[in-house]
Amino acid sequence: MAEIVIVPSPADAGILVADEIVKLIASRPDAVLGLATGSTPLPVYEALRPRLAGVDVSQVRGFALDEYVGIDPQHPESYRSVITKEVVEPLGLDPARIHTPNGALETISHAGEDYEQAIAAAGGVDLQILGIGTSGHIGFNEPGSSFASRTRVKTLIQQTREDNARFFDSIDEVPMHCITQGLGTILSARHLFLLAFGESKAHAVAGAVEGPVSSSLPGSAIQLHPHVTVVVDEAAASQLQNADYYRYAYANKPDWQGL
Ligand code: PGA
Repeated sequence: MAEIVIVPSPADAGILVADEIVKLIASRPDAVLGLATGSTPLPVYEALRPRLAGVDVSQVRGFALDEYVGIDPQHPESYRSVITKEVVEPLGLDPARIHTPNGALETISHAGEDYEQAIAAAGGVDLQILGIGTSGHIGFNEPGSSFASRTRVKTLIQQTREDNARFFDSIDEVPMHCITQGLGTILSARHLFLLAFGESKAHAVAGAVEGPVSSSLPGSAIQLHPHVTVVVDEAAASQLQNADYYRYAYANKPDWQGL
């Protein structure tokens, strides 16, 4: 079962995950991070900034979950731009070691395969940060995605385009297609951290953690992974049936166990 940690605020979640990333980099200077975009991971990146000051991060590698198809990489809302602005520059990472799927139309037919090969060549992802969409998607694996899927092109559902319209001038500008790590790709990472904050995520979190394992709620794929830490605030935890047990288990967790 995933470990569920209910924290008072997104900032507390950011600190918890950032501390794990710092430990990982200390033990493995060329650690491979799985990076996520969206609002959810921002507290992690904010908490990392002071914690990585003075740490040699020149060897750290990273792979983003997804990218829009057909968007200019220079567009401020391309995930390449977002990762550069929110992660690479503030944390002082080497941009050449941080990868995003290539959404360029000219090479899109083999971009998924190329990305899988790059992840494999890096030895796989050590620690994957995940948000979850209101549809239950992780990465851009919308409902119906195969649990065996690898990086490939997907069509965004209307709900996701509406959710992401806040980053664009209008919904019409939100791309229709994306290239995303598959659920199988995500499940290959060694440690998953799934974060969610706010009431609007409560249904997706409950489905992912406690619902039936079903491609109708892609986040439920985490139940198939041996090492998952779900970090949620009270609002996102509000539909969890077993929340009291998760609190009790975390409060009584032996120190030696770690996350
Ligand atoms: P959000 O998106 O972090 O911006 O809420 C999460 C997701 O869609 O995976």
